[in-house]
Amino acid sequence: MSDKHPMSADEWDELNFPRAEVQEFDRVVERAISRRGFLGGVLTFGSGAAVMGAGLLKGSTALAQGSSRFAFENLPAQTDSTIHVPDGYSWDILVRWGDPLFSDAPEFDPELGIPTEGSDRVFGENTDGMELFSIDGREILVVNSEYTNNEINLVGSAGTETEGQAEETTVASADAVLRLQQFQGVNVLEIEEGPSGWSVVVDSPYNRRIHHNTPMMIDGPAAGHALLQTEADPTGTESLGTFNNCGAGRTPWGTYLTCEENFNGYFGATEGLPTDEQIAAGYQRYGINETGFDYNYHQFDTRFDVSMNPNEPHRAGYIVEIDPADADSTPVKRTALGRFKHENAACTLANDNRVVVYMGDDERGEFIYKWVSRDAYEEGGDTSTLLTEGQLYVAVFNDDMSGEWVALTEEATGMSAAEIAIFTRTAGSAVGATTMDRPEWVAVNPTAVEAYCCLTNNSRRGVENDAGEVIANAGGDPMVLNAPNPREANDYGQIVRWRPAGEDHGSDGFDWDLYVMAGNPAAEEAPYDGSETINAGNLFNSPDGMQIDTTGLIWIQTDGDDSNEGAFEGMGNNQMLAGDPETGEIRRFLTGPKGSEVTGLTWSSDRRTMFVGIQHPGAPFPDGEGALPRSSIVVVKRNDHEVLG
Ligand code: FEO
Ligand code: CA
Ligand code: CA
Repeated sequence: MSDKHPMSADEWDELNFPRAEVQEFDRVVERAISRRGFLGGVLTFGSGAAVMGAGLLKGSTALAQGSSRFAFENLPAQTDSTIHVPDGYSWDILVRWGDPLFSDAPEFDPELGIPTEGSDRVFGENTDGMELFSIDGREILVVNSEYTNNEINLVGSAGTETEGQAEETTVASADAVLRLQQFQGVNVLEIEEGPSGWSVVVDSPYNRRIHHNTPMMIDGPAAGHALLQTEADPTGTESLGTFNNCGAGRTPWGTYLTCEENFNGYFGATEGLPTDEQIAAGYQRYGINETGFDYNYHQFDTRFDVSMNPNEPHRAGYIVEIDPADADSTPVKRTALGRFKHENAACTLANDNRVVVYMGDDERGEFIYKWVSRDAYEEGGDTSTLLTEGQLYVAVFNDDMSGEWVALTEEATGMSAAEIAIFTRTAGSAVGATTMDRPEWVAVNPTAVEAYCCLTNNSRRGVENDAGEVIANAGGDPMVLNAPNPREANDYGQIVRWRPAGEDHGSDGFDWDLYVMAGNPAAEEAPYDGSETINAGNLFNSPDGMQIDTTGLIWIQTDGDDSNEGAFEGMGNNQMLAGDPETGEIRRFLTGPKGSEVTGLTWSSDRRTMFVGIQHPGAPFPDGEGALPRSSIVVVKRNDHEVLG
């Protein structure tokens, strides 16, 4: 399929969106950085003082010089093994990996963890995207468990090749595979706030573990296609498990969207890879190979052995819809929203109430997508086809700060509807989508018609290989510098923002700018020094998780280099910051324990509690010396119990 559109993305872009003859790249970048772009070029930052520009931020109110909407002081960077929040706030643990969701769950052993039997009755490993739903007056938290760490999760498993904690633990038994499969997926848990704080309601009828063997329905253009048929499921419509559940989303009708990211890592081959040309090309584009990551499922569970089940990987990499109100419901894989390394799914409505879902594909040089439903959402109406019937688009960002959502149609791509749904990356390449620096979470601003996407980093952006060619993504699209991704060997990341044409998320056109370029102000060269809104007090790298609260503050979570050395000196541990797009000001709010990533954020229904995910802490957090480190969700509250935002 790759030779149907022999032009590279950049050649296509050049042909369809010719650049002005004189356009010096640095000036393009400078203009794209928000204060000189969207905001009209009159803003000054640094001390937090700001004068609004042309007032393009819908609903914005001009702020007096020196005023700030933040209720907290900037938190200094931290390098220790616990959590910090600003004065006036406190944090506590809600739930840790291995905590029981059911009273028949095995008890967590601080040195051994949880045995295989019962590993599907506890809170899973490596918390990530989450959403809270208020259902019949109860608070139901739905949380992803993205992946596992062999050296932590397999202690004491029969057949593993080490005992106790070790640098490397090999998955060497069906028991170990089953344990890992059951620690991952999605958790549904009722929580409640009592006099001593928030806790899990053990045995709630809402509680549920969805893991790598949970039955799923497959829906949309790929459902039933020959490429999804397996010996165990000749219909190609029923699969088992959801994989590498990274970010999340929520629909207006109260369902949870879990996003399958690095699904490729679970597959391997005992007797060689498939040779069919189309399948092999797909494997190459999505990174499916003979060894996979270190899960080693394929040695003990033939479903993951692509020598025997070449189509099984085509059944992963989707957005999966889960009904948190019904613990017996079957999750649905919505193939119409494309197959790629889905980060999250940010839902909003077009002006005519069609459903819009923005999605990033987190791999170097991959793309940003948008789904628009065919039908309008009606409260209380039939929502069953809103993620099935509609159109998938991919983003083209032009250097002149305009952009276009290009429809992935059969005509535009030369692919069938099913092929577009299964090999979505190839479809994006075919229409000249813009290569991005690893699109992570997208967030839609509820107070303005705009959306943001974290472009976390891309060490290969603009870098040449031994042959002197700029390194390409796996589809052959060279990752040349472009205006939204302007930094060579981009270690720090940036956040791109777009405003849809006609103030309508359903429209095909948009304008864009860079909300912030992360960086180190100590760097001598732009743009490595970051935006002017970055200073010695709030510097960070690798923005990843993101949510925008009801007041329009942007909460940014990081998953980056926490060495606090060299180019990263002063950034400290991974963290959560808040940005005010009206002033440009960014303040650090929370720091995670050393080694952890801060990912996943939601609020209680009364907005007085914030739930924040702490993934893969490096130190024995939170149980202390001698105990296994445990991924955890923490609650953060104001000490005066006021609303957080
Ligand atoms: Fe699971 Fe791209 O983060
Ligand atoms: Ca992420
Ligand atoms: Ca990341």
